[in-house]
Amino acid sequence: MSQRYYIVGNWKMNGMRAALSEARAIDRAAQRLPKVEVAIAPPVTLIAAMREGLTGTGVGAQNCHHAEKGAHTGDLSAPMLREAGADFVIVGHSERRADHHETNEQVKAKAEAAQAVDMGVILCVGESEAERDSGEAEEVVARQLAASLPDTAQRLSVAYEPIWAIGTGRVPQVSDVAAMHKRLRTVLTDKYGDEGADVRILYGGSVKGENAEELLAVAEVGGALVGGASLTADGFVPIIAAAAEQD
Ligand code: 13P
Repeated sequence: MSQRYYIVGNWKMNGMRAALSEARAIDRAAQRLPKVEVAIAPPVTLIAAMREGLTGTGVGAQNCHHAEKGAHTGDLSAPMLREAGADFVIVGHSERRADHHETNEQVKAKAEAAQAVDMGVILCVGESEAERDSGEAEEVVARQLAASLPDTAQRLSVAYEPIWAIGTGRVPQVSDVAAMHKRLRTVLTDKYGDEGADVRILYGGSVKGENAEELLAVAEVGGALVGGASLTADGFVPIIAAAAEQD
């Protein structure tokens, strides 16, 4: 596998137009470090402006509806997001699974809706703290991934995000990240054969400039999905730089 590291900022429900200057500063760094594939998923309200203003950075959405159109007040379809300038969609984030009761089946359908209009997909999975403590994390996350995967690996990435590591400043042991990513790789090759070997598996959960080098060096970690630290260039650029320094 000789793909570039994929470093993605998930801005969640953060960012007014004033934040576009941070995105531009991130973009300038991304242009200096072409070894790394950099992307930002801002709130939908900023997608078009980012698409227009950034040249070295991918722009994506944080969710989509699985249907192409219809009576779904307040929702946005993959074709709409694509037209607005999004090139990829994050699906199945634990905050959406929790806040909006999204099921594995819905996550799979959303991923397939994005693929149908040739958008990239970042499919998120991860265990709760209780599942980690009970020693079932790998089993639970492998099952969750298998049930959420779209039918093809077209433009697919996976993000392993332990729920207890999101926004907490806590990260798993490097050995636990290695074991989980190895297990998820098996799920991917079982489903897609050789193509499953090329799906990048990102790590997410309290990634910062200080821990990025160690996490990105783990076998089968193909990038990072970054929340809080991606909101400013000062927070995000050191993570991009850490990816550029990996062999
Ligand atoms: P934090 O980097 O803020 O922990 O968020 C991780 C995340 O949920 C990215 O999708």
